[in-house]
Amino acid sequence: MSLKNKKVMITGGLGFIGSNIAQRCLEAGAEVTVYDCLDPRSGGNMYNLHGIEDSVKIVINDIRSMEGISSCIRGQDILFHCAAYTSHPDSMKDPLGDIDVNCKGTINILESARRFNPEIKFVHVGTSTQNGKMCYSPVDEKHPEFPMDIYSANKTVSEKYVLIYGGAHKMRTTVVRLANVFGPRANIKIADLGFMNYFIGLALQGKPLTVYGKGAQLRNITYVGDCVEALVAAALDPASDREVFFAVGDKQYSIAEIAKGIVENVGGEVKFVDWPSERAAIEIGDAVISNEKIKKILGWAPRVPMAEGLVKTREYFAPLLKKYL
Ligand SMILES: NC(=O)c1ccc[n+]([C@@H]2O[C@H](COP(=O)([O-])OP(=O)(O)OC[C@H]3O[C@@H](n4cnc5c(N)ncnc54)[C@H](O)[C@@H]3O)[C@@H](O)[C@H]2O)c1
Repeated sequence: MSLKNKKVMITGGLGFIGSNIAQRCLEAGAEVTVYDCLDPRSGGNMYNLHGIEDSVKIVINDIRSMEGISSCIRGQDILFHCAAYTSHPDSMKDPLGDIDVNCKGTINILESARRFNPEIKFVHVGTSTQNGKMCYSPVDEKHPEFPMDIYSANKTVSEKYVLIYGGAHKMRTTVVRLANVFGPRANIKIADLGFMNYFIGLALQGKPLTVYGKGAQLRNITYVGDCVEALVAAALDPASDREVFFAVGDKQYSIAEIAKGIVENVGGEVKFVDWPSERAAIEIGDAVISNEKIKKILGWAPRVPMAEGLVKTREYFAPLLKKYL
């Protein structure tokens, strides 16, 4: 199975992960349609498709538009659903807005697929924060989900919609949950879209990286190129149908270690500050995640260690800072 000549649709394809998928699919000979509303609160950035903008079809529209989604989804072989309202803190301030995009938007795409293209392979991107605080370690796909913020709760719900359509309508749906993805084409200027890419942005500007408390919480981090390979593997392998996978890096680092790695490979300096109360309230503590299932069933494994990924990220952003800040 390969992507060659496959028709691939990517919601959120102007964002961080979606645009990296678009690059990868195009290189592999797929026909790519990107569907994105360029939400200013997100990582959506036209520059993410720089160099391939004439080779992909770009549709600027909202996933909440049944008409817009339906007219694009017909005839597609694979859908990567990456569009989301992605800020944890914003979801607490605007819970209904978050439901609208992350829940209703996902249902809208599923309904369009069921009505107009039930054969499509539907790959949904979930998040490790759906689990909340760890009940056991390492967290696997059977770990209970007690999300601690509205975004993560709505990602839990939308993931279940995807699995329900897989089960009840026999559609080929898969969930790939990611964690702390970093790399080229990320939003590096909004702190609330993920601490690691924001730290990389600060480091590129030679600014201090502010770590809350001691920064002792453990995290799996994953280079975006590895995530893209996991999503492609899920799209191409029928063994992924109706399954949930964690696609995360092998190793856990504390936040302080990640900050140190960024300083060493990108720049800046680390500064420890007190926890802001609104962040402390939704903090999940350590998150140690197993990637055994995806390794066993899809044969995927992360390949890019933290330092190498940081160097690749620095090399991408350094000449392009104006496009991203
Ligand atoms: N980045 C991470 O570390 C991470 C970790 C776990 C899960 N995820 C998941 O991966 C997916 C992609 O995240 P990302 O980091 O690329 O985010 P991003 O913010 O860079 O991209 C999201 C894209 O979705 C678009 N979008 C938002 N609302 C939309 C709407 N209503 N209609 C159409 N387009 C809309 C935005 O314009 C943006 O281009 C999301 O589902 C997110 O939950 C990301």
